[in-house]
Amino acid sequence: MSDRAAAARILAPSDALTVETVRSVLHWNAHLFSFTITRPPSFRFRSGEFVMIGMPGERRPLLRAYSIASPAWAEELEFLSIKVPDGPLTSQLQRVRPGDQLFLGRKPTGTLVADALLPGRRLFLLSTGTGLAPFMSLVRDPDIYERFNQIVLVHSVRQVSDLAYRADLESHLAGDPLVQDQALLQLSYLPTVTREPFRTGGRIDTLIADGTMFRSPLTGPKHFDPATDRVMLCGSMTMIRALAAQLEAAGFAEGSNAEPGHYVIERAFVG
Ligand SMILES: Cc1cc2nc3c(=O)[nH]c(=O)nc-3n(C[C@H](O)[C@H](O)[C@H](O)COP(=O)(O)OP(=O)(O)OC[C@H]3O[C@@H](n4cnc5c(N)ncnc54)[C@H](O)[C@@H]3O)c2cc1C
Ligand SMILES: NC(=O)c1ccc[n+]([C@@H]2O[C@H](COP(=O)([O-])OP(=O)(O)OC[C@H]3O[C@@H](n4cnc5c(N)ncnc54)[C@H](OP(=O)(O)O)[C@@H]3O)[C@@H](O)[C@H]2O)c1
Repeated sequence: MSDRAAAARILAPSDALTVETVRSVLHWNAHLFSFTITRPPSFRFRSGEFVMIGMPGERRPLLRAYSIASPAWAEELEFLSIKVPDGPLTSQLQRVRPGDQLFLGRKPTGTLVADALLPGRRLFLLSTGTGLAPFMSLVRDPDIYERFNQIVLVHSVRQVSDLAYRADLESHLAGDPLVQDQALLQLSYLPTVTREPFRTGGRIDTLIADGTMFRSPLTGPKHFDPATDRVMLCGSMTMIRALAAQLEAAGFAEGSNAEPGHYVIERAFVG
C-alpha cells in the first residue's frame, strides 16, 4: 500500500485509541509541519501535555508521542511535527490531508504543565526544534498569564524557516481574543537561529551566558534565580541535560505532578 493510501485508510477505535479526522495541514518547510485534528468531546488535557498519535502499522497501530500545541480550551487539537526522512511514522504522517483519519491516544500526560511548578514571577520556556509545541499550548492559555507576571519563550532552531509560529509570536498572539491583551504585556518571544544569519544566533546556553535571555522588556535579575524564576525545558536531550545541570547548580529543584518544583523537563526527541 502506498503512503498516501495508508494515510487515507478507514480506521477503527480501540480501548486505548480514538479515531480522529485531520482538519488542516500547514507545511512550514521541507522538514516541519503542523496539523489539526478533531477533538473528541471526552478528551481532557492540561495545556503542555503530550499524547500518543498514529497511523495503521503492519500488525498494530504505529504510535508516537506528540506534544499538543493547542491550548486546553481549543475545539481542535493541534500538533507540530518533524518530518524524519525515513522515520516510521513521520514519513507517512507528513502526507496527511484534511479528511484523513489518525489514531489519538485516550490518555494525555506530561510534566510541562503549570501545576508541576511552584508559584513564581518569571517563567522561561526554553525550546529547541519541535520542543516549541507544548509551549504554543501554554502561551495560548490564559491561565499561564494569571500564574506568572512575565513569560519568556525562547525557540532555538537551525534555519529561519524552522521558526514555526513566528508571525503569531512576534505579534504577541494578536488576534487571539483569549490571550492577546495579556500576551502583549507579559509575553516576550526570543527566537534564535544557529545555522543561518539572523538577528539572534546563539544557542540557548549562550543567550543565558551573554545576558540576551534577560534583556528588556524583561525586568529582574540578569540570571536565573530560584526565588522568582521558573523554567520549562523541551527539545534536544543534550540541551536539556546541560541546562538542567546548570539550573540544579543554581539551586533549582526539578518539579513533577506529584511535587511541584522550580523547573520541569520533557524530551521531545532523543538527540
Ligand atoms: C514526550 C514526547 C513528546 C514528543 N513530541 C513531539 C512533537 O510535538 N513533535 C514532534 O515532531 N515529535 C515529537 N516527539 C518525537 C516523536 O515521538 C517521534 O519520534 C517523531 O514523530 C518521529 O517519528 P518517526 O516514527 O518518524 O521516527 P522515530 O523512529 O521516532 O525517530 C527517528 C529519529 O529522528 C529523530 N527525531 C525524532 N523526532 C524528532 C523531533 N521531534 N525533532 C528532532 N529529531 C527528531 C531522532 O533522532 C530519532 O531517533 C516527542 C517525543 C516524546 C518522547
Ligand atoms: N532543522 C533543519 O534545518 C534540518 C535540516 C535537515 C535535516 N534536519 C534533521 O532533523 C533532525 C532534527 O533537527 P532540528 O533542527 O529539529 O534539531 P536540532 O539539531 O536539535 O537543532 C535545533 C536547535 O537546537 C540547538 N541545539 C542542539 N543541541 C543543542 C545543545 N546541546 N545545547 C543547546 N542547543 C542545542 C541547535 O543548535 P546548533 O545549530 O548549534 O546545533 C538548533 O538551534 C536532525 O537529525 C537533523 O539532521 C534538520
